[in-house]
Amino acid sequence: KPLEQRIKGEGLYIDSVPLSDILDLKVSPIYVTSLNSISQRLNYYKSALQKHFTNFEVFYAMKANFSFPILEEIKNSGGGIDIVSIGEWRAALKAGIKPEKICFAGVGKKEEEWKEAIKGGLGYLSVEHLSELNDILFFIYKNKSDEIKSLVISLRLNPSVEVETHPHLKTGALNSKFGILFEHFEIWLNQMKSQFQDIEDYKKWIRPLKGIHVHVGSQLMENSIFPLIANKILDCADFMLKNNIIVKHIDFGGGLGVPVEGVPENGIDIKSHIDFLCNTFKNAASNYKDLIKEWGKDFNNLFVCVEPGRSIVASSTVFITQVLYEKRNSDKNLFCYVDGAMNDFPRPSLYGAIHHAEIVNFKQDVNLREKLKNNFLNWNIVGPVCESGDFLSKNTLLPEVQKGDIIAFFEAGAYCRSMASTYNLRSLTSEVFVKDGKILHVIQG
Ligand code: LLP
Repeated sequence: KPLEQRIKGEGLYIDSVPLSDILDLKVSPIYVTSLNSISQRLNYYKSALQKHFTNFEVFYAMKANFSFPILEEIKNSGGGIDIVSIGEWRAALKAGIKPEKICFAGVGKKEEEWKEAIKGGLGYLSVEHLSELNDILFFIYKNKSDEIKSLVISLRLNPSVEVETHPHLKTGALNSKFGILFEHFEIWLNQMKSQFQDIEDYKKWIRPLKGIHVHVGSQLMENSIFPLIANKILDCADFMLKNNIIVKHIDFGGGLGVPVEGVPENGIDIKSHIDFLCNTFKNAASNYKDLIKEWGKDFNNLFVCVEPGRSIVASSTVFITQVLYEKRNSDKNLFCYVDGAMNDFPRPSLYGAIHHAEIVNFKQDVNLREKLKNNFLNWNIVGPVCESGDFLSKNTLLPEVQKGDIIAFFEAGAYCRSMASTYNLRSLTSEVFVKDGKILHVIQG
C-alpha cells in the first residue's frame, strides 16, 4: 500500500519504508513523503472526472507543495499544474511540465509575469481584475505570435458566497480580494463592446476569453454551497454567450478539505466530491438551452477542470521531529519541546490547525506496547523558536515523553513545507521522498 501506515506496535511505515530507515539518515526535523500516494490521489481525481466529462484536466495547485520530486511525479502521472507566480511557472517548466498544461491564476500578477508565461506558451490564464483582462486582451490582439493563439483566458468569478472554513482560507465572499463580481463584468463588457465599430473586430479582440473559473476556499469539509455557485457560473456563461463569447472551459477550483483523522484509502472522498460537483453542474446546465446547444447534450464541447492542492498531497507526508526536553510548569501546563518549530511546520501557529501527533518511536522503552498502557498526559508540543506562538500542537494526549522520542505529525504534505521559512535563521526543513518502498531523494535543509 502506498500511503503512510501506522501498524500498532510495529511502528511507522511510509510506503513500506520503515521509520528506522528514515532515522538512519540522522536528519531531524524532516518531512517524509510517499510519491506513490500523490499519483494515486491524482488518479482518483482523473477517474472520477472521466465518468462525467470527455474533456477534463486536473491542475495540481503546486502552492500546496512545490518540491521538485512532487512536480516530477505529477508530470509522470500526466497531471497539469496550477501556478500563482512566475517562480512557480519556472519550477513547473524545470520539472518538465508542458506549458500548455499549466494554468496561471493569481490575484496580483505583474505585467512581466503574465507576459513571460504567455510568450512561453502558457495554456490557461485566469484573470482577477478587469484592467488586467483589458491589458492582456489588447496584448494578444496586437501580438501576431502563433504561440499565444491557443491561450485560454478565464474570468475568475467572485460568486459572493460564504463557506465554512478558517477566515484566511475563504476566497469567494463579497469581502474577498479574489475574483471579479459578475455585475462588474457585465458593465465592463457592455462598455468595451460599444467601443468597437466592427463586430468582427470585437470578436477578434475577445476571442481568447473562453473560460470561467471559481475557487471559493480551501479546507472545505462540505460542498452544499456548490449548487448556488453552479448557477452563478451558468448565468455568467449565458451572458457571455449573448455577447459572442462561447465559454468552452470551466474550472471549479480546488478546496476539498482533509480531515484530521486522515483521508480514506480508497479515494472515496475525492470521488464523492467530484460526483457531486459534476452532477450538480450538469443538472443545473440542462436549464440553459443555448449553452447546451454549444456544449452538446453530453458536454463533449466543454473542457472541465479542477485545481486541487491539499487533497492530493496532504496525506502523502508525515513530519518527523525529535523530543529535546520536557517541562511541567503545573499539572495543566506540560511542555514537550521538539526540534521542529513554527518555521518548519507553520499551520498550527498560523491557522490553529490541528494535525494528529503521535509518538512513533520511544528512545528508552523497548516495549512500545507497555509504554502505551501508561497514563496519557495533556502535552503542548512546542519548538525552539523564540515566541509563544511557536507551537505544533496544543493539549495533545500522549504518554510520558523522553528526550530522543520521535513524534510524527500526520497529513503534513500540504502548505507545511511550502510555507516553511528560515525565521530565527533556522535552516529550511529537510525532506525525504520515498517511492516503491525505497528512499529516492533526500533534500537537506
Ligand atoms: N486554486 C486557487 C485559485 C487557490 O487559491 C487554491 C488555494 C487552490 C486552487 C488549491 O486549494 P486546495 O485544494 O489546496 O484547498 N495556506 C493555507 C491554504 C491556502 C490555500 C490557498 N489557495 C493552509 O495552510 O491551509
